[in-house]
Amino acid sequence: MCGIVGYVGKDAALDYLVDGLARLEYRGYDSAGVAVLQNGKINIRKKKGRLETLEASLNGLPRGITGVGHTRWATHGKPSDRNAHPHTDCSGRFAVVHNGIIENYLSLKEWLQSEGHTFRSETDTEVIPHLIEHYYQGDLEEAVRQVRDKLEGSYALVVISAEEPGKLVTVRQESPLVVGLGQGENYVASDIPALLPYTRQVLILDDGEMASVSPGGVRISDRAGREVKKEVFEVPWDAVMAEKQGYEHFMLKEIHEQPKAIRETMRGRVRDAEVVLDELGLDTGQLANIRRIYAVACGTAYHAGLVGKYLIEKMARVPVEADLASEFRYRDLLVDEGTLMLVISQSGETADTLAALREGKKRGARVVAITNVVGSSVAREADDVIYTWAGPEIAVASTKAYTTQLVCLALFAAYLAQARGTVGKEDLGDFLEELTRLPEKAQEILDREEAIKRFAKKCARWEDTFFIGRGLDYAVALEGQLKLKEISYIHAEAYAAGELKHGTLALIVEGVPVVAVATQPGLFEKMVSNITEVKARGAEVIAVTGENGPEMGKYVDHVIPIPQTHPMLTAPLAVIPLQLLAYHTAVERGCDVDKPRNLAKSVTVE
Ligand code: M6R
Repeated sequence: MCGIVGYVGKDAALDYLVDGLARLEYRGYDSAGVAVLQNGKINIRKKKGRLETLEASLNGLPRGITGVGHTRWATHGKPSDRNAHPHTDCSGRFAVVHNGIIENYLSLKEWLQSEGHTFRSETDTEVIPHLIEHYYQGDLEEAVRQVRDKLEGSYALVVISAEEPGKLVTVRQESPLVVGLGQGENYVASDIPALLPYTRQVLILDDGEMASVSPGGVRISDRAGREVKKEVFEVPWDAVMAEKQGYEHFMLKEIHEQPKAIRETMRGRVRDAEVVLDELGLDTGQLANIRRIYAVACGTAYHAGLVGKYLIEKMARVPVEADLASEFRYRDLLVDEGTLMLVISQSGETADTLAALREGKKRGARVVAITNVVGSSVAREADDVIYTWAGPEIAVASTKAYTTQLVCLALFAAYLAQARGTVGKEDLGDFLEELTRLPEKAQEILDREEAIKRFAKKCARWEDTFFIGRGLDYAVALEGQLKLKEISYIHAEAYAAGELKHGTLALIVEGVPVVAVATQPGLFEKMVSNITEVKARGAEVIAVTGENGPEMGKYVDHVIPIPQTHPMLTAPLAVIPLQLLAYHTAVERGCDVDKPRNLAKSVTVE
């Protein structure tokens, strides 16, 4: 999705803007642009395509004392130089970058055109500089305030003006924005990684807030114009943590970070064979009274929700519905005082997930969020938050966020079971013991990466693949197929193994690869039957399996073993070979692994 950077201070605007935009590349974009202000004039460059194209066009641009930059992911108007941000008014005195969608832009545009304004792009954003031009009477902050009151939709925007050179004015409404504090210079960004080499001290804006940022200070006001005092948030990540650390791609680095991320996510939460989740404000009585849970999320986070459903139902005996956030609002939800909503989101900014969260809250559900980003919208709007301590996830394909979401869900299931008395002390102890051993077992799988890398050479020639599994393994199969298709562009479909014969078996012909996830001891025989069905039609079968590996070897073409663990904890291990397989296959096919085509890291539009 779009990325924003802004600078005000000495004469280093351009340096920061280019560097900051590069650090936001992971968000995914189709065009980029900058505006720098020097000697009372705003200079703009914007280009369709990658940042290198923009950089190559920057010759002759002053470094600037103030500036804004943007990477765009098209919503209104195709990717083009014209539609790239920043956008300006008719006079060229105001430049604006914007993330989000202005829902009422058409009526505003018609009105502005009737007032004589000329538009140069197809974007919704361009109404903003023209509105500022209309309202400006010598006070940028006041003009932006008046414009904000006219806008409907979601936006994070940053405005600079040739009339007030040492100032940025920014507003946040349902789209993330932070202010970074420097020495005699200050920064603005849509995401913290853009700030890390410059400062770790940030102010996180809330919806409706506006910040007026100058080299010497930041003034934040609420919607009514009252000054807001904010606590400075010290970012616990350093710049190195957010970079690749020698790995060829962020995705590979993040796959390898999983043992550590899992360990960090468990830290302090398992003590004396009990789960401690102090962050939850639910007492034992409230936990005992939960009668229904909705686990709501998108993409990979939704697949984590599916695993959560199995764990919670099995351990805590509460019915769980795993729902796609983008569909959640179209149901007539059954919510009462016994309803809990688990909202799962790596970024905490996914528009569909946020909308579902708000719908759930509106109907009275208690919302527990599982997210990776402190201060994100999901974290702030939920009643309680369980953080995944995975560190920044940069690659578009989610890996360590998923495994740490599974850990949080396992902890939550055990916590609920503990409070409701649905699992005996000994069984709970065994489960938690195995949970704490996941990092070393994840490492064991990573240590066998070479074999998967070699195998991926063959997979690179695949065209259509099928992933099958039963129970928890079906949820993992869904995640495995998503990983493969999103980064290698190989067509992949996941099926509950028992469903194949109800239609899909027609597609299984000689040589079609089928990845069978078969980690559940109780479902082994049934999986073998399904594997035999596809083998009989000529499929090449690759099985990801645990303790039954040698036996499974009799039925399939390749076995990818995972270490033995508790049957309810196989998902975070079984997914790792599938992540590695997708990664190496994509590399082998020459794909842009960290930035797959058409996709964005943080999907902040519905
Ligand atoms: O930030 P979120 O967890 O809310 O993102 C949800 C999905 O957009 C995300 O998991 C997406 O499916 C990933 N690209 C999958 O790798």
